[in-house]
Amino acid sequence: MRKFAFLSLLLTIPGLAFAEAPQAKPFGKTADGEAVEIYELKNDKGITARIMTRGATLVDLLVPDANGKTADVVLGFDDVAGYEGEDNQYFGCTAGRVANRIAKGKFSLNGREYTLAINNEPNHLHGGVKRSIDKVVWKAASFETDNATGVRFRYVSPHGEEGYPGTLSMVVTYTLKKSANELAVSYKATTDQATPINLTNHSYFNLSGEGSETVLDHELQLFCDNYTPVDDTLIPTGKIDPVEGTVLDFRTPHTIGERIKSLDDTSAIGYDHNFVVNGEMGELRPVARLKDPKSGRVLEVSTTEPGVQFYSGNFLKGQAGKGGKPYPHRSAICLETQHYPDSINQPNFPESVLEPGETYRHTCVWKFSAE
Ligand code: BGC
Repeated sequence: MRKFAFLSLLLTIPGLAFAEAPQAKPFGKTADGEAVEIYELKNDKGITARIMTRGATLVDLLVPDANGKTADVVLGFDDVAGYEGEDNQYFGCTAGRVANRIAKGKFSLNGREYTLAINNEPNHLHGGVKRSIDKVVWKAASFETDNATGVRFRYVSPHGEEGYPGTLSMVVTYTLKKSANELAVSYKATTDQATPINLTNHSYFNLSGEGSETVLDHELQLFCDNYTPVDDTLIPTGKIDPVEGTVLDFRTPHTIGERIKSLDDTSAIGYDHNFVVNGEMGELRPVARLKDPKSGRVLEVSTTEPGVQFYSGNFLKGQAGKGGKPYPHRSAICLETQHYPDSINQPNFPESVLEPGETYRHTCVWKFSAE
């Protein structure tokens, strides 16, 4: 109704040309024959984002440097088959229903015990194996407003899918500002039964451009005083410790490579830690600032979530990505805004259970600039 009123109001303004919402284009088919579509969002400042319906996945993100030269700063593949293959380590996807790990794939809720797939020995990772939300095809609709262009993805995960309770209705919206280089991803979900939830975007960034050899020269600042230490299967011990005096102290900028060697012999083989974002969860606040000294491109991340997983691409293995370019060990960084890993089994972590009648909300904003 409101949309209709808005449209008719616009029609009464003489000479006003309609900005068209982005159109869906075919992006091939899944192995099961399901059609996948891709949307292109563009603004006047030089950003182009392409997002596909499989996994509500960010496929390409073209960002200008100080001279206006653009590079695609996210890892990915040229086609759906690439995303369906063994080499896809959650590139650009929406991860969930519960992103990151659940210890031993087990949790109990309201007196019932749930068992999930073990897909990252001995734990459950990123929502499961076959029908985790990164692997299903979402419904999409684009929109255009005076100052933004975007696409909204919807997926209803049936009760019991990948072992999780409750029918979970999810909406993920990508919104690109027209006059600023800001791309926001916002998440909403409702359920008909209590269920754990943790949605995030799993983009791998290299601000020199995907396919560049390393991310170790990128300078990172994290607005995080604390982190959640983990055991050797990357499950939090339950403690919340200060970063002070550790190689996780990014409160002032450090290159990713500067101290990473001391993590070579850990099971994460580098950075793969959940940091506690300073400030009030629920409020949009700064998380990270990442700068590539070569191109001068800067990414600033903010979120409403309590945590961020800083993962330095340690398990990248040189697989061929877009245009056949290899993606070696530590050639990209993920900054996954999220609830803390294994929250469902950790009584002193912020609540991650969504109850019927409640709405899950999460916003993450990526702001790009160049120096
Ligand atoms: C995890 C890593 C994992 C990667 C790809 C990240 O969110 O923290 O341990 O290897 O995702 O699955």
